[in-house]
This record gives sequence, C-alpha cells and structure tokens, in this order.
Amino acid sequence: VNQGHGVKGLAEMGLETLPKPYVQPLEERITMSKTTHEESIPIIDVSNWNDPNVADSICNAAEKWGFFQIVNHGVPIHVLENVKDAAHGFFGLPAEEKRMYLKDHSPTNNVRFGTSFSPQAEKALEWKDYLSLFYVSDDEATAFWPPVCKDEALEFVKKSELVIRRLLEVLMKRLNVKEIDKTKELLLMGSKRINLNYYPKCPNPNLTVGVGRHSDVSALTLLLQDDIGGLYVRKMDGNSWIHVPPISESLVINVGDALQIMSNGRYKSIEHRVTANGSKNRVSVPIFVNPRPFDVIGPLLEVLENGEKPMYKQVLYSDYVKHFFKKAHDGKDTLEFAK
Ligand code: SIN
Ligand code: FE2
Repeated sequence: VNQGHGVKGLAEMGLETLPKPYVQPLEERITMSKTTHEESIPIIDVSNWNDPNVADSICNAAEKWGFFQIVNHGVPIHVLENVKDAAHGFFGLPAEEKRMYLKDHSPTNNVRFGTSFSPQAEKALEWKDYLSLFYVSDDEATAFWPPVCKDEALEFVKKSELVIRRLLEVLMKRLNVKEIDKTKELLLMGSKRINLNYYPKCPNPNLTVGVGRHSDVSALTLLLQDDIGGLYVRKMDGNSWIHVPPISESLVINVGDALQIMSNGRYKSIEHRVTANGSKNRVSVPIFVNPRPFDVIGPLLEVLENGEKPMYKQVLYSDYVKHFFKKAHDGKDTLEFAK
C-alpha cells in the first residue's frame, strides 16, 4: 500500500479499475438488495432539553436503534461547515505534508494519518483515508495538530461538549444514574478523539467499501457527515441495512460498545458501514467520546442494583481498544472480548 498518498493518491492517478487489494469478498460488498431507503433512524429535535418527550425519544432510540440524528443541537452551523472544509483542506495537502503524520513519522502518538482501517490485518482494504486526533488538552492540540485543520477541529470538539453532556445525562437517568459526578464524567467522556475521514471518488464502488461492518468502541459517537450519503446502519432485528440520509445541520449520534457494556446491554451499539462513491469525494467527522485508556469498564452498579445479572465482565478500556484495532473490521466481534 502506498500509504503516503493514501487512496486519495490512487484516485488521482486516474485509475479506471479498482486495484486488487481493495476488492472485497462478495459477502462484504454492499448490495442494494439488502438496503432500504424507506425506513429511517429517528430524527430528534433537541431544542428543549427539559421536555420529557425529548429524553424519552433519545433513550428509546438508544435502546431500539442504537443510532439517531439530532437537529437544533446548538452547535453553530459555521463550526460544522468549517470543520468539513478543514477536512478537505488537510487531504488536499501535498503528499509530503501529510506523510509527516504517518504512524512512524508523526511527532506525537496523538496525531495519526492513515488509510483503510488496520491494513496489516486486513485481507481486503477499505477505500478511505483518515486523520485521527486524540484530544488531551487545548494546549496539546494547538501544539501538535496539523495547522491546516487544528482550529476548526478543536472548535468542533469544544462546541459539542454541551450537547454530549446533555445526551449522556438523559441516557444515564434512565439507567438509574441520577447525576454525572466527576467519576462518571471521566468514565463516560474522559477522553475524546476526532477523526477527519476522506472517501475519494472510487472507480468501482460496488466492489469495495468505504468502511466495513463494525460497531464503535466509544461510549458515544457524534458524527458530522456532508451531503453525499453512504452510511448504512444494520437494523437491529433483521438482515437489512438502513441508509442514514444526510440532513443539513444535523448530527448523527450512536451508542458505542463501551456504553452497551456499561448499560448492561440496554443501549445498543449497532453495526454500520459506509459505501464507496463512484462520483464524489465524501468527508465525515466523528467525535468519539470515550472512557480514558486506563479506566476499567463494566456494567454500572446503578444498573445492577435492580438484580440484573451482569452480561459483561470488567475490562481495561485500553485492552478493549487494542483488541478492536488488531483485526480487520468484523461486525460486533470485539464485544466478545468483554464476555
Ligand atoms: C465510521 O463509522 O467509521 C464512519 C462513518 C461515516 O463516515 O459516515
Ligand atoms: Fe463507526
């Protein structure tokens, strides 16, 4: 793999056919016969956090779909537009300038430019490049994140803090957790990662994927997508995949494995994947809200107080994440690690 140029470099060579390493086995290709545009994940207006219907809709969506979109969330539109532009800006840099952020070149572990998911472990590669930024502090971000996108990425992280907290408060309440004290705050959102994803236009989009089937290892993921589309979510009780239509100014929220574990299976971390696109370059910007690497996660005591049997064991969060990254995307298999 020519990692320094990523798939964007390949796309720009004017290829007429998809290179072999990216051809996915038949069962992983996203055929339209198994997808539906008729159903949709819930769309929730969160302009009034005090409205009990809002809280209900959020918790129901987290239980039944694991995915929902929020509108009127309070993150200013210019912040969303700027970070998408900044993503185009980063990937538009000359290869030499991006290369310095590759795994073995990067001045810090907290900034990583890469392609596919875990190329060493994958039988077939994914048609995607990314820049992954681990958020430690404002100062660290300012010092090490790439100049072309650091202000915009940091602004998105900061401006989304309140909506993340509100969402978690609502979700915790249904779990019998009355307030998010300092300990809970660290456990639920003690660390954050923001990714800039770039899916270049692909010569044979039907033979490959942008991202393969996986569930997120986060507690919660907040995703900004542009207007191109291509994200599909597995329907909980079935074999069909539902498209997540781009809605301007909305954010897509999904439950990750860490919250499924902490809620003892009540909230669902759902499989999703992304198609490659034959005519357009797509960007998306997820913020992963995570426990800290050294936190131990397991079903919350408040949840078990009602006598429920724990479905998961206690695991060190960094071990869990390591397990996720050492194999190719394979659906929800990482969760087995916590059983
Ligand atoms: C992902 O879930 O890994 C990416 C989602 C997206 O790009 O829409
Ligand atoms: Fe994901």
